[in-house]
Amino acid sequence: MNAAHASWWALFRQWLRNPLRTAAVVPSSRELAAAMVAELPPGTARVIELGGGTGALTRALLAHGVHGDALLVLELNEELHAHLHARFPAVRVELGDARDLPGIAERTGYLAAGPADAIISGLGLLTMPAELQRAIVAAAFQCLRPDGRFIQFTYGPQAPIGDAVAAELGLQVRRGTFILRNVPPATVYVYEQARRG
Ligand SMILES: C[S@@+](CC[C@H](N)C(=O)[O-])C[C@H]1O[C@@H](n2cnc3c(N)ncnc32)[C@H](O)[C@@H]1O
Repeated sequence: MNAAHASWWALFRQWLRNPLRTAAVVPSSRELAAAMVAELPPGTARVIELGGGTGALTRALLAHGVHGDALLVLELNEELHAHLHARFPAVRVELGDARDLPGIAERTGYLAAGPADAIISGLGLLTMPAELQRAIVAAAFQCLRPDGRFIQFTYGPQAPIGDAVAAELGLQVRRGTFILRNVPPATVYVYEQARRG
């Protein structure tokens, strides 16, 4: 089995076990990964990835030039975490919940070099209860520089973060590229702290 098939099977197996949490049947396409990476702020060096899965976005981040030691990848599923760890030995891949990101980033020493420039998320935020969504997004913005970006893709027609949650956290949103070549087609969204004044 080649690497692409191994990734496909790894994600598909986890999707059979827990479709809501896994949120994707197959890994993101190269086109979607490229569209996510294209939204990184200029000069980005440090990135956190939430919900690494089998590493479709991790691979694109590394190919874009993000160094392994400037990347922190979080994955909740043990089997997918092991898969990521084996596939990207030079990257800090942590088994954990995105809700606990600040503690994990602190404990692993990631934040010692400063906050992240961007957070790339493959989480299925849209289908999460508002409370969980709020906890994850708030945790993410605690680890971002003040003008950093939270970049998220979604399969649905609406924005992945609920309006009430975005308003409560003071976020502004921009709809990015729609990618047809993905299963299913997906849209990229970019969230930032709203500027005051
Ligand atoms: C839609 S898949 C995306 C996988 C990969 N990033 C991609 O684009 O192909 C979502 C991933 O998020 C993980 N996940 C779900 N909830 C999580 C959480 N609270 N914290 C960290 N990872 C989570 C799932 O196990 C799954 O691997």
